[in-house]
Amino acid sequence: MTDHPSDKAGGGKSQIWGGRFERGPAAVMEEINTSIDVDRRLWREDIEGSKAHSAMLAAAGIISAADRDAIHGGLDRIAAEIESGGFAFSRALEDIHMNIEARLKELIGEPASRLHTARSRNDQVATDFRLFVRRACDDMAAAIRALQQALVEKAAQHAATVMPGYTHLQTAQPVTFGHHCLAYVEMLERDRTRFLDARKRMNECPLGAAALAGVPYPIDRAMTAKALGFDRPTANSLDSVSARDFALETLAASSICASHLSRFAEEIVLWTSPHFGFAALSDAFSTGSSIMPQKRNPDAAELCRAKVGRIAGGFTALLIVMKGLPLAYSKDMQEDKAATFQALDDLALALAAMAGMVADIRMDEQAMRAAAMRGYSTATDLADYLVRKLGLPFRDAHHATGAIVALAEKKNARLDELSLDDMRGVERRIDKDVFGHLTVDASVAARASYGGTAPANVAAEVRRWKEKLA
Ligand code: ARG
Repeated sequence: MTDHPSDKAGGGKSQIWGGRFERGPAAVMEEINTSIDVDRRLWREDIEGSKAHSAMLAAAGIISAADRDAIHGGLDRIAAEIESGGFAFSRALEDIHMNIEARLKELIGEPASRLHTARSRNDQVATDFRLFVRRACDDMAAAIRALQQALVEKAAQHAATVMPGYTHLQTAQPVTFGHHCLAYVEMLERDRTRFLDARKRMNECPLGAAALAGVPYPIDRAMTAKALGFDRPTANSLDSVSARDFALETLAASSICASHLSRFAEEIVLWTSPHFGFAALSDAFSTGSSIMPQKRNPDAAELCRAKVGRIAGGFTALLIVMKGLPLAYSKDMQEDKAATFQALDDLALALAAMAGMVADIRMDEQAMRAAAMRGYSTATDLADYLVRKLGLPFRDAHHATGAIVALAEKKNARLDELSLDDMRGVERRIDKDVFGHLTVDASVAARASYGGTAPANVAAEVRRWKEKLA
Protein backbone atom coordinates (compact mmCIF):
# COMPACT_ATOMS: atom_id res chain seq x y z
CA MET A 1 0.00 0.00 0.00
CA THR A 2 1.24 3.54 -0.70
CA ASP A 3 0.08 7.00 0.21
CA HIS A 4 0.86 8.35 -3.22
CA PRO A 5 -1.77 8.73 -5.85
CA SER A 6 -1.56 5.83 -8.23
CA ASP A 7 -1.25 6.85 -11.83
CA LYS A 8 -3.16 4.05 -13.39
CA ALA A 9 -3.77 4.10 -17.10
CA GLY A 10 -6.55 6.59 -17.71
CA GLY A 11 -6.18 8.09 -14.25
CA GLY A 12 -9.31 9.12 -12.44
CA LYS A 13 -11.19 9.40 -15.70
CA SER A 14 -11.49 5.60 -15.80
CA GLN A 15 -13.74 5.79 -12.76
CA ILE A 16 -17.42 5.99 -13.60
CA TRP A 17 -17.50 9.32 -11.77
CA GLY A 18 -14.05 10.40 -12.96
CA GLY A 19 -14.86 13.07 -15.58
CA ARG A 20 -13.31 15.90 -13.61
CA PHE A 21 -10.46 13.90 -12.13
CA GLU A 22 -6.87 13.97 -13.38
CA ARG A 23 -5.50 11.06 -11.40
CA GLY A 24 -6.65 7.90 -9.66
CA PRO A 25 -6.99 7.50 -5.92
CA ALA A 26 -4.17 6.76 -3.48
CA ALA A 27 -3.98 3.11 -2.60
CA VAL A 28 -5.16 3.83 0.92
CA MET A 29 -8.01 5.92 -0.47
CA GLU A 30 -9.14 2.97 -2.53
CA GLU A 31 -8.70 0.73 0.48
CA ILE A 32 -10.92 2.75 2.78
CA ASN A 33 -13.44 3.60 0.08
CA THR A 34 -14.10 0.20 -1.38
CA SER A 35 -17.10 -1.75 -0.15
CA ILE A 36 -17.37 -4.48 -2.76
CA ASP A 37 -16.10 -7.19 -0.41
CA VAL A 38 -19.15 -6.54 1.75
CA ASP A 39 -21.87 -5.25 -0.54
CA ARG A 40 -21.43 -7.86 -3.28
CA ARG A 41 -24.09 -9.71 -1.33
CA LEU A 42 -26.56 -7.14 -2.66
CA TRP A 43 -26.09 -8.23 -6.27
CA ARG A 44 -29.53 -9.82 -6.64
CA GLU A 45 -31.27 -6.79 -5.19
CA ASP A 46 -29.16 -4.45 -7.32
CA ILE A 47 -30.10 -6.26 -10.52
CA GLU A 48 -33.75 -6.48 -9.48
CA GLY A 49 -33.75 -2.73 -8.78
CA SER A 50 -32.05 -1.87 -12.07
CA LYS A 51 -34.54 -3.94 -14.01
CA ALA A 52 -37.47 -2.23 -12.32
CA HIS A 53 -35.87 1.16 -12.92
CA SER A 54 -35.13 0.60 -16.60
CA ALA A 55 -38.57 -0.88 -17.23
CA MET A 56 -40.07 2.26 -15.71
CA LEU A 57 -37.76 4.55 -17.72
CA ALA A 58 -38.94 2.85 -20.91
CA ALA A 59 -42.61 2.96 -19.90
CA ALA A 60 -42.25 6.68 -19.22
CA GLY A 61 -40.55 7.25 -22.60
CA ILE A 62 -37.27 8.29 -20.98
CA ILE A 63 -35.28 5.51 -22.66
CA SER A 64 -36.25 3.39 -25.66
CA ALA A 65 -37.76 -0.08 -25.45
CA ALA A 66 -34.71 -1.37 -27.31
CA ASP A 67 -32.37 0.09 -24.68
CA ARG A 68 -34.49 -1.44 -21.95
CA ASP A 69 -34.33 -4.85 -23.60
CA ALA A 70 -30.56 -4.60 -24.03
CA ILE A 71 -30.21 -3.60 -20.37
CA HIS A 72 -32.37 -6.48 -19.18
CA GLY A 73 -30.51 -8.99 -21.35
CA GLY A 74 -27.16 -7.73 -20.05
CA LEU A 75 -28.33 -7.82 -16.42
CA ASP A 76 -29.52 -11.39 -16.85
CA ARG A 77 -26.10 -12.35 -18.19
CA ILE A 78 -24.42 -10.65 -15.25
CA ALA A 79 -26.68 -12.49 -12.83
CA ALA A 80 -25.67 -15.78 -14.46
CA GLU A 81 -21.99 -14.82 -14.28
CA ILE A 82 -22.20 -13.95 -10.60
CA GLU A 83 -24.24 -17.06 -9.85
CA SER A 84 -21.67 -19.30 -11.53
CA GLY A 85 -18.73 -17.58 -9.86
CA GLY A 86 -17.47 -16.25 -13.18
CA PHE A 87 -17.86 -12.55 -12.41
CA ALA A 88 -14.66 -10.62 -11.74
CA PHE A 89 -15.39 -8.21 -8.88
CA SER A 90 -13.13 -5.18 -8.87
CA ARG A 91 -12.18 -3.24 -5.75
CA ALA A 92 -11.24 -0.26 -7.89
CA LEU A 93 -14.89 -0.07 -8.94
CA GLU A 94 -15.77 0.47 -5.27
CA ASP A 95 -19.10 -1.17 -4.83
CA ILE A 96 -21.63 -3.59 -6.24
CA HIS A 97 -23.51 -0.87 -8.10
CA MET A 98 -20.51 0.24 -10.14
CA ASN A 99 -19.20 -3.27 -10.63
CA ILE A 100 -22.46 -4.27 -12.25
CA GLU A 101 -22.82 -1.08 -14.26
CA ALA A 102 -19.27 -1.33 -15.58
CA ARG A 103 -19.78 -4.93 -16.64
CA LEU A 104 -23.06 -3.97 -18.27
CA LYS A 105 -21.21 -1.38 -20.32
CA GLU A 106 -18.71 -4.03 -21.44
CA LEU A 107 -21.51 -6.37 -22.42
CA ILE A 108 -24.03 -4.07 -24.15
CA GLY A 109 -22.25 -0.78 -24.76
CA GLU A 110 -24.14 2.50 -24.96
CA PRO A 111 -27.54 1.50 -23.54
CA ALA A 112 -25.78 0.68 -20.25
CA SER A 113 -24.90 4.34 -19.93
CA ARG A 114 -28.58 5.27 -20.01
CA LEU A 115 -29.51 3.05 -17.05
CA HIS A 116 -28.41 5.61 -14.48
CA THR A 117 -30.79 8.28 -15.81
CA ALA A 118 -33.04 9.64 -13.06
CA ARG A 119 -31.21 7.62 -10.44
CA SER A 120 -28.26 7.99 -8.09
CA ARG A 121 -26.28 5.45 -6.14
CA ASN A 122 -27.87 6.99 -3.07
CA ASP A 123 -31.40 5.89 -3.86
CA GLN A 124 -30.03 2.77 -5.53
CA VAL A 125 -28.24 1.54 -2.41
CA ALA A 126 -31.12 2.59 -0.18
CA THR A 127 -33.43 0.47 -2.33
CA ASP A 128 -31.10 -2.53 -2.54
CA PHE A 129 -30.49 -2.51 1.18
CA ARG A 130 -34.18 -2.23 1.99
CA LEU A 131 -34.90 -5.18 -0.27
CA PHE A 132 -32.21 -7.18 1.49
CA VAL A 133 -33.32 -6.30 5.01
CA ARG A 134 -36.95 -6.90 4.07
CA ARG A 135 -36.10 -10.41 2.92
CA ALA A 136 -34.10 -10.95 6.12
CA CYS A 137 -37.20 -10.03 8.14
CA ASP A 138 -39.17 -12.68 6.27
CA ASP A 139 -36.41 -15.25 6.72
CA MET A 140 -36.09 -14.46 10.41
CA ALA A 141 -39.84 -14.77 10.94
CA ALA A 142 -39.75 -18.18 9.27
CA ALA A 143 -36.74 -19.33 11.31
CA ILE A 144 -38.40 -18.20 14.53
CA ARG A 145 -41.51 -20.11 13.56
CA ALA A 146 -39.46 -23.28 13.06
CA LEU A 147 -37.99 -22.88 16.54
CA GLN A 148 -41.45 -22.29 17.97
CA GLN A 149 -42.66 -25.49 16.32
CA ALA A 150 -39.81 -27.48 17.87
CA LEU A 151 -40.67 -26.02 21.28
CA VAL A 152 -44.36 -26.80 20.92
CA GLU A 153 -43.45 -30.42 20.10
CA LYS A 154 -41.42 -30.58 23.29
CA ALA A 155 -44.24 -28.99 25.24
CA ALA A 156 -46.66 -31.59 23.90
CA GLN A 157 -44.38 -34.41 25.10
CA HIS A 158 -43.91 -32.77 28.48
CA ALA A 159 -47.27 -31.21 29.29
CA ALA A 160 -47.28 -33.01 32.66
CA THR A 161 -43.54 -33.36 33.29
CA VAL A 162 -42.77 -31.71 36.59
CA MET A 163 -39.66 -29.65 37.20
CA PRO A 164 -38.64 -27.06 39.76
CA GLY A 165 -39.68 -23.54 38.88
CA TYR A 166 -37.23 -20.91 40.04
CA THR A 167 -37.09 -17.35 41.15
CA HIS A 168 -33.62 -16.01 41.95
CA LEU A 169 -32.54 -19.48 40.70
CA GLN A 170 -33.79 -20.73 44.05
CA THR A 171 -36.48 -23.43 44.07
CA ALA A 172 -39.79 -21.61 44.02
CA GLN A 173 -42.74 -23.78 42.99
CA PRO A 174 -43.10 -26.84 40.79
CA VAL A 175 -43.91 -26.11 37.16
CA THR A 176 -44.40 -28.29 34.13
CA PHE A 177 -41.64 -28.48 31.55
CA GLY A 178 -44.23 -28.00 28.82
CA HIS A 179 -45.20 -24.70 30.41
CA HIS A 180 -41.55 -23.68 30.49
CA CYS A 181 -41.19 -24.44 26.77
CA LEU A 182 -44.31 -22.45 25.96
CA ALA A 183 -42.91 -19.43 27.81
CA TYR A 184 -40.26 -19.28 25.07
CA VAL A 185 -42.90 -19.78 22.39
CA GLU A 186 -44.61 -16.63 23.68
CA MET A 187 -41.38 -14.63 23.70
CA LEU A 188 -40.54 -15.84 20.22
CA GLU A 189 -43.96 -14.85 18.96
CA ARG A 190 -43.28 -11.28 20.06
CA ASP A 191 -39.88 -11.50 18.36
CA ARG A 192 -41.42 -12.84 15.18
CA THR A 193 -44.06 -10.14 15.00
CA ARG A 194 -41.45 -7.47 15.77
CA PHE A 195 -39.73 -8.46 12.51
CA LEU A 196 -43.03 -8.39 10.67
CA ASP A 197 -43.92 -4.99 12.14
CA ALA A 198 -40.54 -3.62 11.06
CA ARG A 199 -41.10 -5.09 7.62
CA LYS A 200 -44.41 -3.28 7.27
CA ARG A 201 -42.87 0.07 8.17
CA MET A 202 -39.87 -0.33 5.86
CA ASN A 203 -41.91 -1.42 2.88
CA GLU A 204 -41.71 1.87 0.96
CA CYS A 205 -39.53 2.34 -2.09
CA PRO A 206 -36.79 5.02 -2.11
CA LEU A 207 -35.96 4.52 -5.79
CA GLY A 208 -36.40 7.75 -7.75
CA ALA A 209 -35.32 10.02 -4.90
CA ALA A 210 -32.02 10.09 -6.79
CA ALA A 211 -29.11 11.85 -5.04
CA LEU A 212 -31.32 13.70 -2.55
CA ALA A 213 -33.73 16.05 -4.29
CA GLY A 214 -35.73 14.04 -6.81
CA VAL A 215 -35.39 14.23 -10.60
CA PRO A 216 -36.55 16.47 -13.44
CA TYR A 217 -37.82 13.50 -15.48
CA PRO A 218 -41.42 12.26 -15.64
CA ILE A 219 -40.66 9.09 -13.69
CA ASP A 220 -43.32 6.80 -12.28
CA ARG A 221 -42.21 5.96 -8.78
CA ALA A 222 -45.38 4.02 -8.07
CA MET A 223 -44.47 1.68 -10.91
CA THR A 224 -41.01 0.83 -9.57
CA ALA A 225 -42.37 0.54 -6.04
CA LYS A 226 -44.95 -1.96 -7.22
CA ALA A 227 -42.49 -3.92 -9.33
CA LEU A 228 -40.23 -4.37 -6.30
CA GLY A 229 -43.05 -5.43 -3.99
CA PHE A 230 -43.16 -2.20 -1.99
CA ASP A 231 -46.48 -0.82 -0.77
CA ARG A 232 -45.74 2.67 -2.10
CA PRO A 233 -42.87 5.05 -2.87
CA THR A 234 -41.28 6.97 0.01
CA ALA A 235 -42.74 10.47 0.22
CA ASN A 236 -39.65 12.61 0.88
CA SER A 237 -36.51 12.38 -1.23
CA LEU A 238 -34.18 13.55 1.56
CA ASP A 239 -35.55 11.00 3.96
CA SER A 240 -35.46 8.33 1.25
CA VAL A 241 -31.69 8.40 0.86
CA SER A 242 -30.77 9.11 4.47
CA ALA A 243 -33.02 6.73 6.41
CA ARG A 244 -31.48 3.63 7.87
CA ASP A 245 -33.88 3.18 10.76
CA PHE A 246 -35.38 0.22 8.90
CA ALA A 247 -32.08 -1.58 9.44
CA LEU A 248 -31.80 -0.29 13.00
CA GLU A 249 -35.26 -1.53 13.82
CA THR A 250 -34.44 -4.93 12.37
CA LEU A 251 -31.21 -5.04 14.37
CA ALA A 252 -33.06 -4.00 17.53
CA ALA A 253 -35.54 -6.81 16.94
CA SER A 254 -32.58 -9.11 16.31
CA SER A 255 -30.92 -8.04 19.55
CA ILE A 256 -34.03 -8.66 21.61
CA CYS A 257 -34.56 -12.03 19.96
CA ALA A 258 -30.91 -12.93 20.55
CA SER A 259 -31.27 -11.99 24.21
CA HIS A 260 -34.18 -14.43 24.46
CA LEU A 261 -32.11 -17.14 22.81
CA SER A 262 -29.29 -16.44 25.24
CA ARG A 263 -31.60 -17.06 28.20
CA PHE A 264 -32.77 -20.37 26.83
CA ALA A 265 -29.22 -21.31 25.85
CA GLU A 266 -28.10 -20.59 29.40
CA GLU A 267 -30.82 -22.90 30.71
CA ILE A 268 -29.61 -25.66 28.40
CA VAL A 269 -26.10 -25.12 29.78
CA LEU A 270 -27.43 -25.37 33.33
CA TRP A 271 -29.70 -28.35 32.71
CA THR A 272 -27.00 -30.38 30.99
CA SER A 273 -24.49 -29.70 33.76
CA PRO A 274 -24.16 -32.70 36.10
CA HIS A 275 -25.18 -30.50 39.01
CA PHE A 276 -28.66 -30.13 37.54
CA GLY A 277 -28.70 -33.29 35.44
CA PHE A 278 -32.07 -32.41 33.93
CA ALA A 279 -31.16 -32.96 30.32
CA ALA A 280 -28.67 -34.39 27.87
CA LEU A 281 -27.75 -33.39 24.36
CA SER A 282 -26.80 -36.19 21.99
CA ASP A 283 -23.39 -36.48 20.37
CA ALA A 284 -24.79 -34.42 17.49
CA PHE A 285 -24.92 -31.34 19.72
CA SER A 286 -22.07 -32.00 22.14
CA THR A 287 -18.34 -31.57 21.91
CA GLY A 288 -15.52 -33.25 23.78
CA SER A 289 -12.52 -31.86 25.55
CA SER A 290 -9.01 -32.31 24.16
CA ILE A 291 -7.68 -33.18 27.61
CA MET A 292 -10.58 -34.36 29.79
CA PRO A 293 -11.98 -37.54 28.26
CA GLN A 294 -15.15 -37.51 30.33
CA LYS A 295 -16.37 -34.12 29.10
CA ARG A 296 -19.51 -33.45 27.08
CA ASN A 297 -19.72 -29.76 26.47
CA PRO A 298 -22.80 -27.88 25.23
CA ASP A 299 -20.77 -25.65 22.92
CA ALA A 300 -23.66 -24.83 20.60
CA ALA A 301 -25.73 -23.59 23.54
CA GLU A 302 -22.82 -21.52 24.79
CA LEU A 303 -22.31 -19.97 21.37
CA CYS A 304 -26.02 -19.17 21.11
CA ARG A 305 -25.73 -17.56 24.54
CA ALA A 306 -22.82 -15.49 23.24
CA LYS A 307 -24.32 -14.38 19.93
CA VAL A 308 -26.30 -11.57 21.51
CA GLY A 309 -22.99 -9.80 22.09
CA ARG A 310 -22.20 -9.67 18.40
CA ILE A 311 -25.78 -8.97 17.37
CA ALA A 312 -26.34 -6.14 19.83
CA GLY A 313 -22.86 -4.98 18.79
CA GLY A 314 -24.08 -4.67 15.20
CA PHE A 315 -27.08 -2.69 16.38
CA THR A 316 -24.89 -0.38 18.44
CA ALA A 317 -22.40 0.02 15.59
CA LEU A 318 -25.04 1.19 13.14
CA LEU A 319 -26.83 3.35 15.70
CA ILE A 320 -23.62 5.22 16.46
CA VAL A 321 -22.75 5.51 12.76
CA MET A 322 -26.12 7.14 12.11
CA LYS A 323 -26.10 9.41 15.13
CA GLY A 324 -25.51 13.05 14.28
CA LEU A 325 -25.31 12.60 10.49
CA PRO A 326 -26.65 15.67 8.73
CA LEU A 327 -29.09 15.10 5.88
CA ALA A 328 -28.90 13.62 3.39
CA TYR A 329 -26.46 10.89 2.34
CA SER A 330 -22.97 10.68 3.83
CA LYS A 331 -20.42 8.00 3.10
CA ASP A 332 -20.57 6.99 6.75
CA MET A 333 -23.71 5.17 5.77
CA GLN A 334 -21.73 2.68 3.70
CA GLU A 335 -20.80 1.13 7.06
CA ASP A 336 -24.42 0.06 7.50
CA LYS A 337 -24.01 -3.19 5.63
CA ALA A 338 -21.18 -5.01 7.41
CA ALA A 339 -22.82 -4.47 10.79
CA THR A 340 -26.21 -5.55 9.52
CA PHE A 341 -25.09 -8.59 7.53
CA GLN A 342 -23.02 -9.91 10.39
CA ALA A 343 -25.78 -9.52 12.95
CA LEU A 344 -28.41 -11.09 10.70
CA ASP A 345 -26.12 -14.00 9.80
CA ASP A 346 -25.43 -14.60 13.48
CA LEU A 347 -29.09 -14.58 14.40
CA ALA A 348 -30.07 -16.92 11.56
CA LEU A 349 -27.40 -19.37 12.66
CA ALA A 350 -28.35 -19.13 16.33
CA LEU A 351 -32.04 -19.72 15.55
CA ALA A 352 -31.20 -22.80 13.51
CA ALA A 353 -28.85 -24.14 16.18
CA MET A 354 -31.44 -23.59 18.90
CA ALA A 355 -34.10 -25.41 16.86
CA GLY A 356 -31.65 -28.28 16.40
CA MET A 357 -30.91 -28.45 20.12
CA VAL A 358 -34.56 -28.31 21.12
CA ALA A 359 -35.35 -31.27 18.88
CA ASP A 360 -32.26 -33.11 20.11
CA ILE A 361 -32.39 -32.57 23.85
CA ARG A 362 -33.59 -35.42 26.07
CA MET A 363 -35.08 -34.44 29.38
CA ASP A 364 -34.57 -36.64 32.46
CA GLU A 365 -38.07 -36.63 33.89
CA GLN A 366 -37.10 -38.45 37.06
CA ALA A 367 -34.27 -36.09 37.86
CA MET A 368 -36.48 -33.06 37.27
CA ARG A 369 -39.22 -34.50 39.45
CA ALA A 370 -36.78 -35.35 42.24
CA ALA A 371 -35.41 -31.81 42.11
CA ALA A 372 -38.92 -30.38 42.14
CA MET A 373 -39.61 -32.28 45.35
CA ARG A 374 -36.64 -30.72 47.11
CA GLY A 375 -36.48 -27.25 48.55
CA TYR A 376 -39.99 -27.20 50.08
CA SER A 377 -41.36 -26.33 46.68
CA THR A 378 -44.96 -26.98 47.79
CA ALA A 379 -44.82 -24.68 50.82
CA THR A 380 -47.05 -22.22 49.00
CA ASP A 381 -49.55 -25.03 48.47
CA LEU A 382 -49.62 -25.58 52.22
CA ALA A 383 -50.26 -21.90 52.80
CA ASP A 384 -52.97 -21.93 50.14
CA TYR A 385 -54.52 -24.97 51.88
CA LEU A 386 -54.68 -23.02 55.16
CA VAL A 387 -56.40 -20.17 53.34
CA ARG A 388 -58.85 -22.22 51.33
CA LYS A 389 -59.67 -24.90 53.91
CA LEU A 390 -59.41 -23.00 57.20
CA GLY A 391 -60.13 -19.48 56.05
CA LEU A 392 -56.87 -18.07 57.41
CA PRO A 393 -55.79 -14.70 56.04
CA PHE A 394 -52.93 -15.38 53.60
CA ARG A 395 -50.36 -13.53 55.70
CA ASP A 396 -51.18 -15.71 58.73
CA ALA A 397 -51.11 -18.84 56.60
CA HIS A 398 -47.72 -17.77 55.27
CA HIS A 399 -46.45 -17.40 58.83
CA ALA A 400 -47.77 -20.80 59.98
CA THR A 401 -46.32 -22.48 56.91
CA GLY A 402 -42.97 -20.88 57.64
CA ALA A 403 -43.00 -22.49 61.06
CA ILE A 404 -43.83 -25.88 59.52
CA VAL A 405 -41.01 -25.51 56.97
CA ALA A 406 -38.62 -24.68 59.81
CA LEU A 407 -39.73 -27.84 61.61
CA ALA A 408 -39.24 -29.95 58.45
CA GLU A 409 -35.81 -28.44 58.01
CA LYS A 410 -34.91 -29.37 61.56
CA LYS A 411 -36.09 -32.94 60.93
CA ASN A 412 -34.37 -33.02 57.58
CA ALA A 413 -37.66 -34.11 55.99
CA ARG A 414 -39.82 -32.99 53.09
CA LEU A 415 -43.14 -31.34 53.98
CA ASP A 416 -45.11 -34.45 52.99
CA GLU A 417 -42.86 -36.56 55.23
CA LEU A 418 -43.94 -34.69 58.38
CA SER A 419 -46.62 -36.32 60.50
CA LEU A 420 -50.05 -34.81 60.96
CA ASP A 421 -49.15 -34.24 64.63
CA ASP A 422 -46.05 -32.31 63.62
CA MET A 423 -48.22 -29.98 61.58
CA ARG A 424 -50.93 -29.74 64.18
CA GLY A 425 -48.31 -28.57 66.63
CA VAL A 426 -48.23 -25.39 64.55
CA GLU A 427 -51.86 -25.17 63.44
CA ARG A 428 -54.20 -27.56 65.25
CA ARG A 429 -56.98 -27.42 62.63
CA ILE A 430 -54.89 -29.01 59.88
CA ASP A 431 -56.53 -32.21 58.65
CA LYS A 432 -55.04 -35.29 57.01
CA ASP A 433 -56.35 -34.18 53.61
CA VAL A 434 -53.46 -31.69 53.67
CA PHE A 435 -51.19 -34.41 52.27
CA GLY A 436 -53.20 -34.43 49.07
CA HIS A 437 -51.99 -30.87 48.50
CA LEU A 438 -48.29 -31.33 49.13
CA THR A 439 -47.21 -33.44 46.18
CA VAL A 440 -45.65 -31.78 43.17
CA ASP A 441 -48.33 -33.24 40.90
CA ALA A 442 -51.11 -31.79 43.04
CA SER A 443 -49.28 -28.49 43.10
CA VAL A 444 -49.07 -28.10 39.32
CA ALA A 445 -52.57 -29.52 38.74
CA ALA A 446 -53.99 -26.92 41.13
CA ARG A 447 -52.49 -24.04 39.16
CA ALA A 448 -55.20 -24.08 36.55
CA SER A 449 -55.80 -20.34 36.57
CA TYR A 450 -55.58 -18.72 33.14
CA GLY A 451 -51.92 -18.79 32.11
CA GLY A 452 -51.00 -21.16 34.93
CA THR A 453 -48.75 -24.21 34.74
CA ALA A 454 -51.38 -26.98 35.11
CA PRO A 455 -50.91 -29.89 32.66
CA ALA A 456 -54.45 -29.35 31.37
CA ASN A 457 -53.60 -25.73 30.56
CA VAL A 458 -50.41 -26.78 28.82
CA ALA A 459 -52.26 -29.35 26.72
CA ALA A 460 -54.79 -26.72 25.68
CA GLU A 461 -52.06 -24.20 24.87
CA VAL A 462 -50.22 -26.81 22.82
CA ARG A 463 -53.37 -27.31 20.77
CA ARG A 464 -53.77 -23.56 20.30
CA TRP A 465 -50.15 -23.12 19.20
CA LYS A 466 -50.23 -26.10 16.87
CA GLU A 467 -53.20 -24.57 15.09
CA LYS A 468 -51.63 -21.15 15.00
CA LEU A 469 -48.28 -22.34 13.68
CA ALA A 470 -49.64 -24.85 11.18
N1 ARG B 1 -21.34 2.09 -1.70
C1 ARG B 1 -22.14 3.20 -1.31
C2 ARG B 1 -22.88 2.89 -0.02
O1 ARG B 1 -23.03 1.79 0.29
C3 ARG B 1 -23.14 3.52 -2.37
C4 ARG B 1 -23.62 4.93 -2.33
C5 ARG B 1 -22.55 5.84 -2.75
N2 ARG B 1 -23.01 7.16 -2.92
C6 ARG B 1 -22.19 8.19 -3.01
N3 ARG B 1 -22.74 9.34 -3.11
N4 ARG B 1 -20.92 8.03 -2.94
O2 ARG B 1 -23.28 3.76 0.70
